[in-house]
Amino acid sequence: MYVLGIETSCDETSCAIVRKRKVLSNVTVSSLKFHKKYGGIIPEIATRNHVKAIDSVFKKAVASAHLRLSRISAISVTCRPGLVGALVVGVNFSKALAVALNKPLVGINHLHAHLFAPFLNNNIKIPFPFLGLVVSGGHTELFVVKDFDRIKSVGKTRDDAAGEAMDKVGRVFGLGYPGGVYIDRIFDYKHRESFNFRCTAPALDFSFSGIKTALVYKKLELEKKKFFSSKTKVKLLSSFEESVVTTIVDNAILAAKKYNLRAIVCGGGVISNSRLRVLLKQKVSENKIRLFLSPKRFCSDNAAIVAGLGFYLYNIKKLYGSLDFEVSSN
Ligand code: KG4
Ligand code: ZN
Repeated sequence: MYVLGIETSCDETSCAIVRKRKVLSNVTVSSLKFHKKYGGIIPEIATRNHVKAIDSVFKKAVASAHLRLSRISAISVTCRPGLVGALVVGVNFSKALAVALNKPLVGINHLHAHLFAPFLNNNIKIPFPFLGLVVSGGHTELFVVKDFDRIKSVGKTRDDAAGEAMDKVGRVFGLGYPGGVYIDRIFDYKHRESFNFRCTAPALDFSFSGIKTALVYKKLELEKKKFFSSKTKVKLLSSFEESVVTTIVDNAILAAKKYNLRAIVCGGGVISNSRLRVLLKQKVSENKIRLFLSPKRFCSDNAAIVAGLGFYLYNIKKLYGSLDFEVSSN
């Protein structure tokens, strides 16, 4: 049972082939370097680069899996959420492939795909029902997950996503893009409580915009008083990161308790963050909850997670059919 996955929701063009949960190939090309000078993802640049890359990414994925295309059972593709122009490239490519090869096509919700990343390349029993936590550049969201196709959102960000807030802060501090990666490197444990930035969203929702603004004002104030040094920069960014990750972990534990769930499953780009991984491990063990973290290589956007969920939806849930599904930004 082989499933091919395609991912083009943001700046990564990716194609993967899985045999059940085993990843046979996962080829990703990112257009990140073309966006860097703008300090964020430019949708048109992302779309144009998907058009350019998708055919060769697909061919490389098939070649490195050493598989004849006729042996593929189904194709799965991210159809939401994401940049609409970018999604259209992957979805139309996949529809054409499905027609040409006469294979079923499964449309995939990208956030749901992130949630099954911890179960790639292993035989771990999927701990339904569980609390799903997706933290990425575009989303910070909690889900109650009862089955592959029974996933309900129970909390999300009211403004910036955690990754988005980190990337914006990175821009203000001149760290380069994406800021989340640089803030992770700069973080210093002993300075994590130098400043107190607080999230104010009601329980189970998140708000990172206020923390970000408080940090920027503090930076301006210190600069005015000539107190801003490289050490202050580390203190500010470490306190900011601590506040973001504490908010995420506290909310996840609260949600697990509220819905009486004994497992938390995490995916998305920000789940690579070292301090977030440590704090999650610490808090789940204090609360006797099991934790399943996406391995770092499957945290950021890639097609293996899309093929992985595609396998379950096709093989177990038989969720495929007509080709006339649409893409959606949300
Ligand atoms: O899941 P992802 O690759 O794309 C989206 O679906 O958005 O996540 C990208 C986000 C970016 O905001 C980036 O700054 C953040 O993940 N990120 C990190 C780290 N690595 C990537 N944030 C904090 N620490 C990291 N190590
Ligand atoms: Zn993502």
